[in-house]
Amino acid sequence: MKREVTKAIFPVAGLGTRFLPATKSIPKEIMTLVDKPLIQYAIDEARAAGIKEFIFVTSRGKGALEDYFDHAPILEASLREKNKTELLEKLKATNMESGAIAYIRQHQALGLGHAVWCARRLISDEPFAVILPDDVIAAETPCLQQMIEAYQETGGSMVAAMEVPPKAASSYGVLDIKEDMGSMVSVRGMVEKPKEGEAPSNLAVIGRYILTPSVLQNLNDLKSGAGGEIQLTDAIAKEIAENRDVFGYRFRGQRFDCGSKAGYLQATVAFGLANEELGNEFAEYLREMVTIPNAAQ
Ligand code: G1P
Repeated sequence: MKREVTKAIFPVAGLGTRFLPATKSIPKEIMTLVDKPLIQYAIDEARAAGIKEFIFVTSRGKGALEDYFDHAPILEASLREKNKTELLEKLKATNMESGAIAYIRQHQALGLGHAVWCARRLISDEPFAVILPDDVIAAETPCLQQMIEAYQETGGSMVAAMEVPPKAASSYGVLDIKEDMGSMVSVRGMVEKPKEGEAPSNLAVIGRYILTPSVLQNLNDLKSGAGGEIQLTDAIAKEIAENRDVFGYRFRGQRFDCGSKAGYLQATVAFGLANEELGNEFAEYLREMVTIPNAAQ
């Protein structure tokens, strides 16, 4: 019997400089995708996968995130009074159970591996998930849930994986594949941000992980890697070096890189089209836009 995965780390300490000036006064995780902040998509996915404890690794200026997860009794009362039941339900769906959220500060921007390490005392001796909220994944079965189901069979550590064009590989952690079993690959090595032409495959790591506690131990004495940062990829690769299993999981779903402006816009269009309330009208608008050249000018 594998242990249940009930804790997830959300590294949200990044400055979001790619979205300046928007992120001058709001955390990028609060930026809206249709009608929900990015972070809500990550939380909903984690909840669907059975996560009960939510650990945010934050930094200065992320107070709006804490406020977002606070209950809003005055707002709720006002909606109730006005009989705005639907809105009230939407609002309540964001409420988190008291004590389910913890915030840890990452005092220095030393990389993703370091951010995860900052949460080590809240994880102790159990497998845990890591979710990067920048990677938004639209899927019938939420990506983390797919992974947890697969993990029940395999154990070990597991990363979400997706084929990327060879040119894009240098923006990712990339898997060196030992055995390809279709939806799952076993991994021989991992390289963070390989130089162009040096990637061991075109199977890239996407921001969902299920990790064994030994990865945290690996982070204890890890030196900085690619980009001068302490890399989570290197800590996972160390598992392989110590003969522990690491798997890549080809999830079913569409991933949007909401850490980039282009990806964020694409996600906005995709989620806008999929939205029950807005989808039809928005599709109509888009059709007009693309049939009338230069309509946006
Ligand atoms: C991080 C990870 C990288 C992974 C990527 C997925 O990189 O370090 O291994 O492929 O997320 O989005 P970042 O995008 O933060 O540079």
